[in-house]
Amino acid sequence: MAVATVENPLRTGMRLERTPAPCAMVIFGASGDLTRRKLMPALYHLAQERLLPPGFSVVGFSRTDMSDQQFRDAMRQAVTEFGGEQPPQGAAWAHFAEGLSYISAHPGHSEEYRKLAEALERSDRQRGTGGNRLFYLAVPPSSIEPIVNNLQQSGLAHTSAGWARIIVEKPFGHDLESARELNESISRVFREDQIYRIDHYLGKETVQNLLVFRFANGIFEPVWNRRYVESIQVTAAETVGVENRAGYFEEAGELRDMIQNHLLQVLALTAMEPPAVIGADQVRLEKVKLLRALRPLDEGALRTCAVRGQYGPGWVEGKKVPAYRQEPDVDPNSATETYAAVKLFIENWRWAGVPVYLRAGKRLARHVTEVAIQFKQAPLLLFHDQPTEAMRPNLLLVRIQPDEGISLRFTAKLPGPAIQTRSVHMDFRYASFGVPSASAYERLLLDCMLGDPTLFAHRDGVEAAWAFITPILQYWAAEPPADFPNYAAGSWGPEEADKLMAGGCAPWRRP
Ligand code: BG6
Repeated sequence: MAVATVENPLRTGMRLERTPAPCAMVIFGASGDLTRRKLMPALYHLAQERLLPPGFSVVGFSRTDMSDQQFRDAMRQAVTEFGGEQPPQGAAWAHFAEGLSYISAHPGHSEEYRKLAEALERSDRQRGTGGNRLFYLAVPPSSIEPIVNNLQQSGLAHTSAGWARIIVEKPFGHDLESARELNESISRVFREDQIYRIDHYLGKETVQNLLVFRFANGIFEPVWNRRYVESIQVTAAETVGVENRAGYFEEAGELRDMIQNHLLQVLALTAMEPPAVIGADQVRLEKVKLLRALRPLDEGALRTCAVRGQYGPGWVEGKKVPAYRQEPDVDPNSATETYAAVKLFIENWRWAGVPVYLRAGKRLARHVTEVAIQFKQAPLLLFHDQPTEAMRPNLLLVRIQPDEGISLRFTAKLPGPAIQTRSVHMDFRYASFGVPSASAYERLLLDCMLGDPTLFAHRDGVEAAWAFITPILQYWAAEPPADFPNYAAGSWGPEEADKLMAGGCAPWRRP
């Protein structure tokens, strides 16, 4: 589908509107993987696009011993390695690097926060950051509470001169109870409007486009319900395995890692009611209502509607790869799932009776994240002598990544004197705008600096998602899997997942 090329809106008219007030960002866990892979490349890219406020500063706070200069060198290396096409160089990097400093300290030691307070005061004096602070917690869950308490005791959690906000990374708890406790501890120190629970899927361009697609177009809303929709499939398939993250993943597993947060958030945006306005409170409220409407899986459903898998050895993208249990630091008898699929129902008037299928897995056949809305077959098949393949029902596909876009499948007549039909696609590709999408972290960091929480998870939403997921985790913990590994790396997951589609539903898509 042809689309007029547009100028990058972040570079043109919207830029001024979207430049936040000067601020300093403190990264706890500054020597970790997330800082190197995501945060620093995103910040540098924002700086290059001139979207960061003047005087923007970063204070890295981590246990690793490093000088300011060593931190800058490490971050330059990180941006080179993970920053895409623009390796940092010359004056642009020098200007950005001037704002980077580092404190080597234990986040649990309260006396170390004096150094942090001094660094922030220095930044206010020398770089004009105006008392505005953004605390980014890129740390394991066990470090969150001590950091939050120390920020309070050192007087950094609330400033009279500017604002203080805190971004908390996932995993946000490991079940409903721990998520509630975490919310409690953070809320004892920060108000809800200061807390930004990040889910990077919400920063993805095509996930945001779900809102625009649904609510800026009149023709889809009338069919966006149980009268016209047969089923919904949300897929997040990855070709990567556990990489070097066994320490985290062995504890988490795929259901917690991908479905509790990313997939349920995407589902919430796909299925929620239209908000009265696109504002943070209204959007988050509608998402929470949707998540609370998920029918809890009862004992029977826990057995039949939730499927787990773990990859054995296989071939992915032409390369031989080991089984999960043979990956570095993974227990050779590990029962951790690397694949999870759930069939669920939303109990409200719009969706009652429409099955929703969520699946996520590592080492699957292709890297693809998508939402597929399968519509009901036309009520009368007038062209019934056509092969079924040529008469497939309409399907709306939102491709979140890669090859971001939206396509609609419908049936068309083949040219010629006879009535012969074929499924065809009307296709919109994001690439046709001719503007590269900003990374999810760029968008979300900027939103937080601007004080816009629309794309962040609300406390109630996080708890509602855990309330749905926790019984599955408990059931799985009580019934260790007997058949792991049960799918080959490079396949589409365990065969058992196909049973979820029993009863005439469209099978899992093989994108
Ligand atoms: C992270 C998960 O949140 O999302 C990872 O912890 C997963 O396991 C990653 O690989 C996927 O993100 P993306 O943006 O590559 O789809």
